[in-house]
Amino acid sequence: MSENNESRFLKACRGEPVDATPVWFMRQAGRYMKAYRDLKEKYSFLEMCKTPELATEVTLQPVNALDIDAAIIFADILLPLEPMGTGLEFVVGDGPSIPRPVRDAKAVDKLLPVNAEEHLGFVGDAIRMVRREISGKVPLIGFAGAPFTLCSYMVEGGKSREFKTTKMMMFEAPELWERLMDKVCTMLIDYLKMQVNAGAQALQIFDSWVGCVSPEDYSRYVLPHTRRVIEGLQDTGVPVINFSTGTSTMLDRVARAGGDVISFDWRINLDDAWRQIGLNRPIQGNLDPVILFAPLPVIKERVHDILRRAQGRPGHIFNLGHGILQHTPVDHVKAVCDMVHEYRHG
Ligand code: CP3
Repeated sequence: MSENNESRFLKACRGEPVDATPVWFMRQAGRYMKAYRDLKEKYSFLEMCKTPELATEVTLQPVNALDIDAAIIFADILLPLEPMGTGLEFVVGDGPSIPRPVRDAKAVDKLLPVNAEEHLGFVGDAIRMVRREISGKVPLIGFAGAPFTLCSYMVEGGKSREFKTTKMMMFEAPELWERLMDKVCTMLIDYLKMQVNAGAQALQIFDSWVGCVSPEDYSRYVLPHTRRVIEGLQDTGVPVINFSTGTSTMLDRVARAGGDVISFDWRINLDDAWRQIGLNRPIQGNLDPVILFAPLPVIKERVHDILRRAQGRPGHIFNLGHGILQHTPVDHVKAVCDMVHEYRHG
């Protein structure tokens, strides 16, 4: 199916001119939507991820409710941790928890090799099902966590503020850190290729927490691994979006790790970020998700500011700087789609 190779989203990923700026949202499926909360009454989050029919239904909820230019498969960056052997739980209100964190050589050696088709086949099945149901309406994005962000969950055992245990592995046992990252990268390349084989038309790598490291540490402990994953996907032929937050002081380094599109957050103005990344490289961003709670005229001012900074240059995908927050008014999300599509560069 190549019918939406000419979609605004895929064109922008290739840096080609479009009739209107494409827009989609990270976490566009989720608790801010009533249809999702209703389904969540009956099924747990992991059940929804692992049942292709349910994952398909949730993936399509925002496609039906909003005028968005891309769908993202409903799944989670932490799903591969289960077959790797660390366990994975979602505690209501507390977020993810990894019962057997990976903190020493023994734990790294014990990590199991993952065969994506076999162990994460439900994600592939959901991708195939969404592609059938969406019938070319908008392209479908597959995704995974970036090596750093995924390893940080494995080492910390859950969400962290300081990432002290993760950083201490880098600083105290760099060779162990390399071995852990190596195993995770091998898994990620296989997993993301499986998603493309199933029908994913673009891939996003989520490095949500990498902004906690210094620029030097990024170059030394993170960049080579992220680059390995992105280079390993080159022969799939689909565009890769390299997403991170908190990295405005090192976007040049993030860009060097690779990615057809570089996605950044609101802590930097879009035009400043684009110059650092290189004006010939497609970008994605960068509205503060909290702005979606503001009155519509305030939202409009901010959306227009971002679009004005992009100057209509080909290769801008409008998105938030991070995922949609719980309790975000759906009307406001819908309004942003219209504001982006209706904007005309003067
Ligand atoms: O974007 C989408 O619509 C696709 C689905 C998606 C989810 N998680 C669903 C989800 C995607 C792309 C993710 C990625 C993800 N998961 C990231 C990277 C993006 C980011 O936000 O930084 C991270 C760090 C995770 C790990 C994760 N999963 C956390 C920290 C949490 C709990 C956070 C919270 O809001 O409670 C999850 C759970 C999760 N993943 C939910 C959803 C819809 C909420 C589950 C629920 O219904 O309770």
